Amino acid sequence: MTNDGVNHSRRRFLTGATCVVGGAGVVGAAVPFVSSWQPSAKAKAAGAPVKVNIAKLESGARMVVEWRGKPVYIVRRSEESLAAIASMDTSILKDADSEAASQPAYVHGSARTQTGHEEILVLVGLCTHLGCAPMYRPDVGAADLGGDSWLGGFFCPCHGSKFDLSGRVFAGVPAPTNLEIPPYNFESNDIIVIGIDAEIA
Ligand code: FES
Repeated sequence: MTNDGVNHSRRRFLTGATCVVGGAGVVGAAVPFVSSWQPSAKAKAAGAPVKVNIAKLESGARMVVEWRGKPVYIVRRSEESLAAIASMDTSILKDADSEAASQPAYVHGSARTQTGHEEILVLVGLCTHLGCAPMYRPDVGAADLGGDSWLGGFFCPCHGSKFDLSGRVFAGVPAPTNLEIPPYNFESNDIIVIGIDAEIA
């Protein structure tokens, strides 16, 4: 909340969410806020973990849940997307190995995921520049994002930062670091708990 009484953080989040819904018709892959499980308002206020059922999250789709007042993106990447990430020209990335990124120790490699769940990406959906909500843009070859060089990822409409499908930031954009990965644990293949650490090394 600022001196003018406007909650800019909340406004940015809502603006981003609007963009996400607006983009669904273009890419046909976005899924709105999950409704299968919601903590109470009291639990949310306390920053409780959020349990999410991803059984209906299709390959290539993204869903958004709220955790500690932040949007968290969950993406089920296709085999093609994972192959594109693995073969990416890392010279166009600022921190390909996520050495400066905020992420748990138990996520690994270019996919930035837990072993055995490489297709599932979990990110805090706030740009590391000034906190806008990046748009999910899985549309490979998008003309407005570089054409053939765009292999899918996230685009921040506020100042043009771009991230790959692992949330790794491109070089030469305002965002300083890769998108943050929150603590998360797989209770089963279909149930993720956001906000608690995985019980794996
Ligand atoms: S807030 Fe994302 S580029 Fe500035």
